[in-house]
Amino acid sequence: MGKNKMKEVSNFKGSSTYVVSRELMNSVNVAVALQKPLLIKGEPGTGKTMLAEAIAESMGMELIIWNIKSTTKAQEGLYVYDTVQRLYDSQFGEGDVSDIKKYIKLGKLGEAFTSEKQVVMLIDEIDKADLEFPNDLLWELDKMEYHIPETKETIKAKHRPIVIITSNAEKELPDAFLRRCIFHYIEFPTEEKMEEIVRVHYPDIESKLLENAMEAFYWIRNMKDIQKKPSTSELLDWLQALVLSGVSVDRIKTEIPYVGVLLKKNQDLETLFNVKDRNSKSNNSGYRWR
Ligand SMILES: Nc1ncnc2c1ncn2[C@@H]1O[C@H](COP(=O)(O)OP(=O)(O)O)[C@@H](O)[C@H]1O
Ligand SMILES: [Mg+2]
Repeated sequence: MGKNKMKEVSNFKGSSTYVVSRELMNSVNVAVALQKPLLIKGEPGTGKTMLAEAIAESMGMELIIWNIKSTTKAQEGLYVYDTVQRLYDSQFGEGDVSDIKKYIKLGKLGEAFTSEKQVVMLIDEIDKADLEFPNDLLWELDKMEYHIPETKETIKAKHRPIVIITSNAEKELPDAFLRRCIFHYIEFPTEEKMEEIVRVHYPDIESKLLENAMEAFYWIRNMKDIQKKPSTSELLDWLQALVLSGVSVDRIKTEIPYVGVLLKKNQDLETLFNVKDRNSKSNNSGYRWR
């Protein structure tokens, strides 16, 4: 496939509200061109879920989200057969219970396959489910079709959806599954990239406030022994708290106000207080964190 052909198939460039690196842009476009699922990994808050939204928006497609939980089974994405309702209807209802079709409810994959237009299908946080889950979906994601024995129907994708799969965990997914995906790891944003992301959300933020907050944020993230590093969404929340409270810009680095927006574990707060203690003793510039 020539370069131009690739452009014809897909031309994802990010969106006005989503900052995307060139590498990520390329991964999206390759996955779309090759019609393979794009597996996105990265720590929480690195914009994995939002990527699917941005792709749908920029391509003018509907986004269908399948949120995976620890109890989710692959079958639920295909269809569920509501036998309980059917039994109920057979006893008390008036409807025709011989029409099994009425009791078959398509899952999210079924919804994506039967859509009249091509859609973006997000399978969000696939690592939450058990290890069988990804393997159970291999065939359906490959062939983009499945059979419903109860109604002898075959659900076949009218248009292959663009499939985005996200995973937070370090937990490895099965090899057979990985072989079929295009993989991309979203690195935690550099300070430069983060500034871009912040400005997308708060275009009018005061530069000095942002500079001081970013310095404190990356300092905390890079502190030894922090167990749950604050993420992009926490930085955004923190900035909002700082702006709304009208806290003086000079106090941001020295006091870290509203630290509970950034750190959510007792141990992490303690780590921070200990560093603060040590520094205030050894540092005659006063009540400084560093
Ligand atoms: N590249 C980005 N561009 C714009 N906003 C971003 C970006 N990455 C993260 N964010 C912000 O961080 C929040 C968390 O992103 P999200 O997609 O939920 O992360 P994840 O799914 O990786 O945990 C988003 O709601 C958005 O406000
Ligand atoms: Mg997410």
